[in-house]
Amino acid sequence: MTMLDLGDYVDDRPREGIFRVHRDVYSDPDLFELELKYIFERSWCFLGLDVEIEQPGDYVTRWIARTPILLTRASDGEVRAFINVCPHKGAQLAVAHKGCTKYHVCPYHGWAFDAAGQCVDVKDKAAGAYPSAFDREDHNLIALPRLASYRGLIFGSLSADVPSLEAYLGDMRTFIDLAMDQAPDGMEIVPGRIAYTYRANWKLQMDNAMDQYHLTSTHASYMGVMEKRSRGQGNVGAQQFDWKKRLEQECGAFNFANGHAMIWLNQAEPQKRPIYPRIGEIEAVHGAVRAQWMLKARNSLIFPNMQIADATTLNVRTFRPIAVDKTEMRVHCIAPKGESPEVRRWRLRQFEDFFMPTGFASPDDTVCFESLQTGYNAHGLDYLQGYYRGIETVVSGADGAARELAIEPQFSVRGGFDLNMETSMHAPYRQWRRLMCAGMNGEKVWS
Ligand code: FES
Ligand SMILES: [Fe+2]
Repeated sequence: MTMLDLGDYVDDRPREGIFRVHRDVYSDPDLFELELKYIFERSWCFLGLDVEIEQPGDYVTRWIARTPILLTRASDGEVRAFINVCPHKGAQLAVAHKGCTKYHVCPYHGWAFDAAGQCVDVKDKAAGAYPSAFDREDHNLIALPRLASYRGLIFGSLSADVPSLEAYLGDMRTFIDLAMDQAPDGMEIVPGRIAYTYRANWKLQMDNAMDQYHLTSTHASYMGVMEKRSRGQGNVGAQQFDWKKRLEQECGAFNFANGHAMIWLNQAEPQKRPIYPRIGEIEAVHGAVRAQWMLKARNSLIFPNMQIADATTLNVRTFRPIAVDKTEMRVHCIAPKGESPEVRRWRLRQFEDFFMPTGFASPDDTVCFESLQTGYNAHGLDYLQGYYRGIETVVSGADGAARELAIEPQFSVRGGFDLNMETSMHAPYRQWRRLMCAGMNGEKVWS
């Protein structure tokens, strides 16, 4: 460990135009432990979507960092979340990634719990010669201290000391609205499960979605495939984008409080977006401005563990830190309920092209993450320089694009695509520093 003061790992000196992050932030196992404790265990974390657990008894298993979580719909129809650990000896209770059950029975000694977390059976209790002290113990599952949802996205916190979810998200809510309002009848998850791990730090995925700069180099082969298709070769049925046109568009970014940020790019070919056939209906309900924003490419980060990517096809991604150099990714392709089969096919081809672990783009990102992680072991490397682009264009508060949406970001940036700003990464690293320092100094983070 480099043994800097915690605050010095993020070197943020706006007046001098300096923003750097020390490589140990991505590679030091001690810092990783502190992140779990001071960031993941003290913030709202994304858990899942309401539509994943629509019926009583439906459940999914998730994680907040190292804590397994059981997210379920109880028989009263309410969403509940518990620490997915049996109070008897601490076994992980539900082990499947999803299911529907009236009772969760622990695989070890068979204690059973209902979907409201109540212990309904201590196996062979009567013959157990238990003392009365045992009966005074609470045998139920431990409920998550905080659970809330916004527009069908469910978040939980292992700490009770967090602001309301609305306050935590702030104006980032507008970008959740732009994802969840894309259908008159609501959104659903396209069936299937995408989960994979990569051998690198969780923040590399976090950074990547805010990082337009890598697109033309990392994803050159993806663009090459798109270009071939435009010449009539390969899977010409897929609705590929004309990247040359795309890279001539105006782009921008917003940074919000609490680590959230987003980047946007004007749409060169709105007709290639799967919502385009129904854009008139969307416009009638949500207005022309919001409809136009839904057509733009948008990547949003909801700190610390969730992204809404809508640069080609809409999807929700969440990452789980497993070790300093190991991360699990989950990707949910979400789509309008009642979408026509033709449009759904079009959406899925776009999704597979870019986002699947077997697609043309995501694997290139993953390879880069692992290469970065290797680089962080290099002798002589200290502060990284990938946070500077665009600093000279940062404006405090809202710019014209933000005013269109009536939002108040902390900072806005706007320019041509080749600006490829890296300033959106300032928001999460400022929050990283704030939470880590507050944790270390025993200070309160949330007022
Ligand atoms: S650990 Fe669950 S019943 Fe024993
Ligand atoms: Fe990428």
